[in-house]
Amino acid sequence: MGVEIRVEGLTKSFGRQVIWQDVSLTVPAGEISVLLGPSGTGKSVFLKSLVGLLKPDRGHIWIGDRDLPRLSESKLYETRKLFGVLFQDGALFGSMNLFDNVAFPLREHTRKRESEIKRIVLDKMEMVGLLGAEHKLPGEISGGMRKRAGLARALVLDPEILLVDEPDSGLDPVRTAFLNQVFLDLNAQIGATFLIVTHDINTARTLPDNIGLLYQRHLAMFGPREMLLSSEEPVVRQFLNASKVGPIGMSEEKDESELEAEARSGQDPGRLPPIPPQQMPSDGLIRAGMHAPGAWCAAHGVTPPPGSFVDEQGRDWVEEWPRYVASMTEAAGMAGSVPSRPGRTDPSRRRYDAGAES
Ligand SMILES: Nc1ncnc2c1ncn2[C@@H]1O[C@H](COP(=O)(O)OP(=O)(O)OP(=O)(O)O)[C@@H](O)[C@H]1O
Ligand SMILES: [Mg+2]
Repeated sequence: MGVEIRVEGLTKSFGRQVIWQDVSLTVPAGEISVLLGPSGTGKSVFLKSLVGLLKPDRGHIWIGDRDLPRLSESKLYETRKLFGVLFQDGALFGSMNLFDNVAFPLREHTRKRESEIKRIVLDKMEMVGLLGAEHKLPGEISGGMRKRAGLARALVLDPEILLVDEPDSGLDPVRTAFLNQVFLDLNAQIGATFLIVTHDINTARTLPDNIGLLYQRHLAMFGPREMLLSSEEPVVRQFLNASKVGPIGMSEEKDESELEAEARSGQDPGRLPPIPPQQMPSDGLIRAGMHAPGAWCAAHGVTPPPGSFVDEQGRDWVEEWPRYVASMTEAAGMAGSVPSRPGRTDPSRRRYDAGAES
């Protein structure tokens, strides 16, 4: 499940302003990938290009055997149905209650009956923990709930690819942590390909399977989380450690005198911090796309920074992982399916009920 997105040599400009050029990457099917980059580097433009809302100047976006920029309007319309999108501003209709907001794509794009629409809408609202809030207007709920309503709407057509633009902007750390947990659980349940744009370094370090960084009109790097978190490449390292030391300055790029001053004053980026263990789905859920902790480092002869993959209880997840997978597979087997999706009565599903965050 989930579909791979293969981008080759993509370039986009507006007039004479080049936004990014020659971007190539493969967003792996069914995995969670995060895209980072300083403000204005064209992350939103990238997402909009992926769904065909903006046309790149050059390059390819392969979804299976279809090259998005070269599709006819009707084929593009068809292909767009594979995508669920949550834009930066959430874009809920202010005068519609949450139920109608979430139902909107179903009423627009399908001929389903109201009873079927109701079943789907309530199912998606339950997935994002908004059951019970169907009759509220967007103006009556918190920012975190609005994001989750936008997410439910992005899910109603059962997307193979979910694109999310800054779900955490304007959210406090607790709500961001809740929302990230929702992403992990959703990914475990629906297995779609997730691409999430964020500015939150903690999210980038702990949530995804893969990380990409846009910087200065290029894709600086894209790869497994461990690859970027163990990278000594100055831009990647500075960005992922939110450090002042490195080539990025207030106006994006430091000039040579600033870098020299940094070097003279003996400022040293220091040792890389440990790679944190990846955040897990709620109990009973397995994500098919999750990479085994330490696997990328081991396969590439990279020694991770000391203390990597150790959680707050002191457990080392490189050692813990095989046991964890075995126990989860066994539990899922007993429940009759692998991976399991908890039933409606499962208490673990109640963790994000609407009341928890009003
Ligand atoms: N439709 C458009 N026409 C012209 N210029 C545009 C258009 N959309 C975006 N831009 C420009 O493209 C650049 C990248 O914008 P974009 O919104 O993708 O940045 P971003 O990385 O998402 O930033 P932020 O992190 O602040 O959301 C900006 O300079 C913006 O002004
Ligand atoms: Mg943006």
